[in-house]
Amino acid sequence: MGKLIINGGKPLRGTVRISGSKNSSLPLMAAAILTDEECRLKGVPFLRDVSTLSLLLEILGVRVTRNGDGSMSLLSDPRGSCVAPYRIVSEMRASFCVMGPLLARRGRAVVSLPGGCQIGDRPIDLHIKGLRALGAQVVQENGYIHCHAERLKGANILLSGPFGPTVLGTQNVMMAASLAEGETVIDSAAREPEVVESARFVNQMGGDVRDHGTPLMKVRGVARLHGASVQVIPDRIEAATFMIAAAITRGEIRIENCRADHLGAVVDVLRHIGVEITFDGDSCTVRGNDRYKPVDVTTLPYPGFPTDVQAQLMALVCLSEGKSVITDKVYPDRFGHVGELRRMGAVIRKEGSTAVVDGVKELQGAEVMASDLRASAALVLAGLAARGTTIVNRVYHLDRGYEKIDEKLRALGADIQRDEE
Ligand code: EPZ
Repeated sequence: MGKLIINGGKPLRGTVRISGSKNSSLPLMAAAILTDEECRLKGVPFLRDVSTLSLLLEILGVRVTRNGDGSMSLLSDPRGSCVAPYRIVSEMRASFCVMGPLLARRGRAVVSLPGGCQIGDRPIDLHIKGLRALGAQVVQENGYIHCHAERLKGANILLSGPFGPTVLGTQNVMMAASLAEGETVIDSAAREPEVVESARFVNQMGGDVRDHGTPLMKVRGVARLHGASVQVIPDRIEAATFMIAAAITRGEIRIENCRADHLGAVVDVLRHIGVEITFDGDSCTVRGNDRYKPVDVTTLPYPGFPTDVQAQLMALVCLSEGKSVITDKVYPDRFGHVGELRRMGAVIRKEGSTAVVDGVKELQGAEVMASDLRASAALVLAGLAARGTTIVNRVYHLDRGYEKIDEKLRALGADIQRDEE
């Protein structure tokens, strides 16, 4: 199962380079299904989730190649299978982003329902609403979603649910609409940078997407799309995680390959707490302090504070002086890390989708269990600051979304070892 062994208390020092974005790479890979020509992605990180999607794409008739320079080439055969099997989709919900491209290019998609996961219910009703609005027949049978469409037609679609916009839902519908007849307007479209990158890529393929990054995205369908190449944007969630690593160890690090314009809400909250952050170009210097203030944060769709940084922030405010309040409005059940942080001495009270954290002087090392990608990151961060040894079990959760995180942390002076038992 693999674990990380961390001896805490060492302030991080040095420079770290952020990898390409997981949540941008995955939909960009799926977009290759939209064309019969080769697509090339530069800067795709080496992650478990990328390997999982590569495996799925191969099953769907897309040849995926890692080139010598680390770039990824994808070449889709439209005669390939249109069935995304349970054994893969159940492992990674994001596999669902193949549905829109399959439907648009091949007229058919059969994708296993993703099922729930550690961060709570993961419905896909908005994806289905959007694809149906474009004229697809969609039925659920035996745990699979069956989609079929002779020709998709543009439509006006409201794509917002009780928790706001949907990131992958917006991308699925945008990619399906890119080959539909006529114009589609996606009202309440997600505005995340990763959504904008997918829209830009479709435009580079000859598509016609406008006002991406705003709540009212417009897509004019075209007859066909051609191959294109793109540089993957830096992973803003990894960057935020390393900012908090510097803060929680009260060290000082330089982070390269990170975009200030993608990190506004995170930087605002960390500065409020007392972390010093200065940007110069696509790098920043993050300096921790001896004392941190508490904070009241609610996660929201972009450009609000990201739910994917909620667990990591909680680890930091465990050491703030006073009471912090963290509410997750995107995934109200995303608190698998609370019980494990308590094992390390944190004082946290959960009330529905809110956690109230009473800061303590120090955390104590303990053996803890990772439950999902970002909860695992929070436990590593807590271990870096804790007095004594922390063992984070089930490190495979971490490898899904962080490229060589233990190596990167060790290079910054952390006492962290991986035990692949
Ligand atoms: C993307 O997931 C990210 N994954 C998630 O990151 C991220 O937490 C999430 O967006 C929110 O920012 C990728 O991009 C691969 P959503 P996605 O559809 O698109 C509800 C990580 O740690 N909803 O935007 O699946 C849903 O339950 C991962 O890297 C519906 O109600 O998330 C949630 O409450 C975890 N109906 C909210 O919307 C739907 O049809 C946002 O979900 C779809 C979603």
